[in-house]
Amino acid sequence: MKTILITGGAGFIGSHVVRLFVNKYPDYNIINLDKLTYAGNLENLKDIESKPNYVFEKIDIVDAEAVNKLFNKYTFDGVIHLAAESHVDRSILNPLEFIMTNVVGTVNLLNAAKESWKDNYNGKLFYHVSTDEVYGSLGETGFFTEETAYDPRSPYSSSKASSDHFVRAYENTYHLPVIISNCSNNYGSFQFPEKLIPLFINNIKNNKSLPVYGKGDYTRDWLFVEDHAAAIDVIFHKGKLGETYNIGGFNEWQNIDLIKLLCSIMDKKLNRAEGTSEQLITYVKDRPGHDKRYAIDATKLNRELGWQPSLQFEEGLEKTVDWYLNNEDWLKHVTSGEYLNYYKNQYELT
Ligand code: NAD
Ligand code: TYD
Repeated sequence: MKTILITGGAGFIGSHVVRLFVNKYPDYNIINLDKLTYAGNLENLKDIESKPNYVFEKIDIVDAEAVNKLFNKYTFDGVIHLAAESHVDRSILNPLEFIMTNVVGTVNLLNAAKESWKDNYNGKLFYHVSTDEVYGSLGETGFFTEETAYDPRSPYSSSKASSDHFVRAYENTYHLPVIISNCSNNYGSFQFPEKLIPLFINNIKNNKSLPVYGKGDYTRDWLFVEDHAAAIDVIFHKGKLGETYNIGGFNEWQNIDLIKLLCSIMDKKLNRAEGTSEQLITYVKDRPGHDKRYAIDATKLNRELGWQPSLQFEEGLEKTVDWYLNNEDWLKHVTSGEYLNYYKNQYELT
C-alpha cells in the first residue's frame, strides 16, 4: 500500500496521470491536490472520482501552512508534482503569478516533503514534472538532451527552470530523493482551449478565425498526453534517483503544417468541403520573445527504461479531434466565464 500525492491533478496532464494511477494501482491511495484555477476542472476526473483509492484536496501550493497540514494528515511515499501555471501567453501578461505558483509553490512542497521525510528518505520520491522549454530555443538543427544547458526565455519557462533548480538544490543540499522529467508539447483530451490545438479545434468548430502568430514557421515537438502519463508512470517506478529524463516522440511540426493538417481533419469530421477550414487562418501579431524551435532527444528514456510513444501523430490528432467533438458540454463549460475575458484581451484587442 502506497500513498501518492499528485499535484495539479485536475489539470490537463495531471488528470491523465491521476486516472492512470487510480485505475492501474488499486492498492495505492492517490491524493489529488489542486487549487482549481481556471485550468483545473474536476469534470476531467468524473469517471474515477468515486473510486475508493482516490481523494481530492483543494489546496493552493502557495499557501505553505495548508501544504504542511496536508503532509501531516497523510504519510506520503511519493509526490508527483504537476501543479503549475502553464500557458506562455498568460505568463507574458502576468509573470508574478507564475513565480508564485511555479517557484514558491514548488519550494513549499519541497519543504513539506523534506520535513515529513527527514527521519528516513528510504523509498521516498519527489518527482518534479517539467518542460523542454527550460532549455530555450533551437535553430534549424539539433535536439535538447539531458545535458543541454538551461536557457529559459519566457516568464513561463523561467519560472519552470527556477523550480527545476530548486529541486536540484534540495537534492544536493538536503539529499532529498528527486527525479525531474522534461517533456515536449502535449496534446489530447481535457486540454484547456487556450493552447494551440484545442483552441484551433474549438475555433474551427465555431467558424472563428485561427490566429497564427507571426508567419507560422515556429516548430514544436508534439506528444500524445497519454504517452506522457505512461512515461511518468515508468519514470516514477523505475527511474534512477537524481536523474533527469527527457520525454518526447521525435515528432516535430511547423505550426502552419500542423494547422493545415488539423483543418483537413476537421473538414472531414464536420462534412465540410476540403479547404473550408483553412480559410479561417489569420496571421496575427507575433508572440513577444517567441521561441523558434523545440525538439527533444528522448533516447535516454527509451534506452534505460524502455519507454516509447504508442501513437503516430496523425492518429493521435484524429482521436483528439473526435474527443472534442464528442464532448461539447465540457468545452462549453470551460469556455464560459473567465475564458471570454482572456480571449478578448489576448486576441480581439490586439
Ligand atoms: P494545466 O494548466 O492544464 O493544469 C495545471 C493544474 O495546476 C490545474 O489543475 C490548476 O488548477 C493547478 N494549479 C495551478 N496553480 C495552482 C496552485 N497554486 N496550487 C495548486 N494547484 C494549482 O497544465 P498542464 O498542461 O496539465 O501541465 C502540467 C504540468 O506539466 C506543468 O507543470 C507543466 O509545466 C508541465 N508540462 C506541460 C506541458 C504541456 O504541453 N502542457 C509539456 C511539458 C510539461
Ligand atoms: P502553445 O500551445 O501555446 O504552446 P507553447 O507556446 O508552450 O509551445 O503554442 C504552440 C505554438 O503555437 C507556439 O509556437 C505558439 C503558436 N500559437 C499560435 O500561433 N497561435 C495561438 O493562438 C497559440 C495559442 C499558439
